[in-house]
Amino acid sequence: MHDYFPEELALWKRIENILKEVLMSYCYLEIRLPLLEKTELFKRAIGNITDIVEKEMYSFQDRKGHSLTLRPEGTVGCIRAIIQNCLLKKKKHHRFWYLGPMFRYERPQMGRYRQFYQLGAEVFGIDTKDIDLEIILLTNRFWQRLGIHSHLTLEINSIGSQTARVQYKTELVSFLKKHESLLDEDCKRRLYTNPLRILDSKNQEIQKILKDGPLLKNYIDFSENVDFKNLCNMISFHGIKYRYNPKLVRGLDYYNNTVFEWKSSQIGAQNTICAGGRYDNLFQEMGSQKTSGIGFAIGMERLVLLMKSLNIFSDVIKEVDIYVIFLSEENKNYAVKLSEEIRNIYPKLKVFINFFNQNIKKKIKNAVISSARLAILIGDNNMKQNHVLVKDLKKRTEHCFEKDELMIKINDVFYRRT
Ligand code: HAM
Repeated sequence: MHDYFPEELALWKRIENILKEVLMSYCYLEIRLPLLEKTELFKRAIGNITDIVEKEMYSFQDRKGHSLTLRPEGTVGCIRAIIQNCLLKKKKHHRFWYLGPMFRYERPQMGRYRQFYQLGAEVFGIDTKDIDLEIILLTNRFWQRLGIHSHLTLEINSIGSQTARVQYKTELVSFLKKHESLLDEDCKRRLYTNPLRILDSKNQEIQKILKDGPLLKNYIDFSENVDFKNLCNMISFHGIKYRYNPKLVRGLDYYNNTVFEWKSSQIGAQNTICAGGRYDNLFQEMGSQKTSGIGFAIGMERLVLLMKSLNIFSDVIKEVDIYVIFLSEENKNYAVKLSEEIRNIYPKLKVFINFFNQNIKKKIKNAVISSARLAILIGDNNMKQNHVLVKDLKKRTEHCFEKDELMIKINDVFYRRT
């Protein structure tokens, strides 16, 4: 779990602002949800025999003995909120986004943490593949706007319906049992718990065995296969390259049909930056009427890692625009008042008052280090004559201004196009 400080957060904020702008342009609305949900909810929705539920949840009992869990992901809480607040009665379809910390007790490594931030989006009530396409276009636009689209690859698959997967699982298990002695410990365990996860094993020996195994797509209904093919064609039509990965199955049980991941080879082993898919049965499983759903989540730390590795947005953000210096204690009140007036007129400018007990030379030196554009010096003489001395630290010029003239000078320096 990490602490984040201003320098790091400056980069986060720039990234977040772009992501939010893109979400707004597709009419997604923000929601904020609790960090805690009932443990039972995650068990039911994510699946009892997934890694998350089996070994990664931070669960505890509250004072009344109810088991609660720090959310390991955002989708389940989002659906709980929709159902609990009867939002589908007011409107049949919704597009939401959220940003916040998630918690998983995983083995930490680069790009994998126990508290991490996800920016996620969920769409409810649209059951055609149009929305699958919109989600791919939207996520692709994120990467374009951030300038990283050539460093991410889209992998996509259809995992069909639950019925198809049950049939396929039986075939896969009977095939793998013939090779059981060659399986590693993890896959042997999964053979009896969650055999589909063996498909995305990183062990090359397992992948060799799987080459002769049954294929999930042969168990998926004809119409879903056609729809999926059409979706892939539409993705290409919009100029987005993708890799069809028939072994992409995802680690949460709630998905059906389309699943996808955006990966980067730039950030080490934990290379999935954004992942998602359809979950058309989850509402029903959580006790509501059947409502289709689809969504994705971006691992923000991984996205930041990628942006850093590509040196994007590495330019220094100015922390100070105007540096205010008063020469003696008697001038302090005037300095504060003047700074307030500047903030009233120019609310976006960063105005810093040096309150330290330093000599004037030191204060000016600090103004230069702060990389402020203007330094305003206030001394007894200036106050008597009702003007201040303004140093343009970039042009290395200085002039005395009355207050009104000062405001015009600030406008010229910060807002007039040259
Ligand atoms: P997920 O694949 O479990 O899906 O997580 C989504 C993304 O969160 C991952 O691709 C990764 O970037 C990031 N992530 C996951 N675990 C960690 C970790 N321990 N440390 C750092 N980053 C991590 C979900 O959570 C689904 N709720 C996504 C979704 C939304 N599907 C439909 N709607």
